[in-house]
Amino acid sequence: MPSVRNPQLNRHGELIHLLSLDQLPREIVTHILDTATNFVSVNDREVKKVPLLRGKSVFNLFFENSTRTRTTFDIAAKRLSADVFTLDIGRSSTSKGETLLDTVDNLSAMAADIFVVRHSQSGAPYLIAQHVAPHVHVVNAGDGRHSHPTQGLLDMYTIRHYKKDFSSLAVAIVGDVLHSRVARSDIHALKVLGCPDVRVVGPRTLVPGDFAAMGARVFHDLEEGIRDADVVIMLRLQNERMSGALLPSSQEYFKTFGLTPQRLRAARPDAIVMHPGPINRGVEIDSAVADGPQAVILSQVGFGIAVRMAVMAIVAGNEA
Ligand code: CP
Repeated sequence: MPSVRNPQLNRHGELIHLLSLDQLPREIVTHILDTATNFVSVNDREVKKVPLLRGKSVFNLFFENSTRTRTTFDIAAKRLSADVFTLDIGRSSTSKGETLLDTVDNLSAMAADIFVVRHSQSGAPYLIAQHVAPHVHVVNAGDGRHSHPTQGLLDMYTIRHYKKDFSSLAVAIVGDVLHSRVARSDIHALKVLGCPDVRVVGPRTLVPGDFAAMGARVFHDLEEGIRDADVVIMLRLQNERMSGALLPSSQEYFKTFGLTPQRLRAARPDAIVMHPGPINRGVEIDSAVADGPQAVILSQVGFGIAVRMAVMAIVAGNEA
């Protein structure tokens, strides 16, 4: 049977689009994290710019709301010296019925080099990557419940920063795993980086048993699921992706699965607490934890700039 080529890689196995962490080899994931390490120091300089994308045009297409991802992609592209254009989707001709690919064609005619795409439909960035000219690169900024690869990478960067070595870590991902593109990207990345103990934790309606097929251990009790964990990644309830009543109420959810200081004691004393944001205080996480000494949530945001710089610099440096 002929093998299906990974659309993210060119024929030399180099990254030309970032669409998903699924099927990305360890060497590429590590290369992105190592490149990001170099860019962290750029962010500490007085003049926070390098000329790597000078003359290139980056178009941000966010068909779903965003605070962290959109802003850090914008900053990252500017720090790489690119020209950056962020389409205001609400005021764009999408509202007049223009299709996604027609929008992409028109922006391509304005000499786009990189499209950064967030969309509610899983697979939208793949569609664009298959459609654009060979010199154009596509970076997925979150598609439906499928994938959020740069969030997965910045989460790995954060874990590596605080814990150094993945080979002995226990990482618990807690909450609405079912609807979470972050959870899927994190699980893929943790497995490829050699993390031996990946757990998913939450109510049965939000953490179905089939996550075991991805190599994660499944728990339906919070304290059992985070016991002796080195890293606890909390997820928000993604009400916008829930079609039915999967939970009694957010208050009931907090009583059972909300991370409080008392419950966090089940994890290792030096465990870090992560969250992709936005956080919902008093729903999945208590403020005393979110603002407490073990939380590294705002560090994640800061590392996101360097990781997104690395991704754009790498894809732009490779030819189809
Ligand atoms: N983590 C994340 O994707 O946050 P935003 O939706 O604010 O971009």
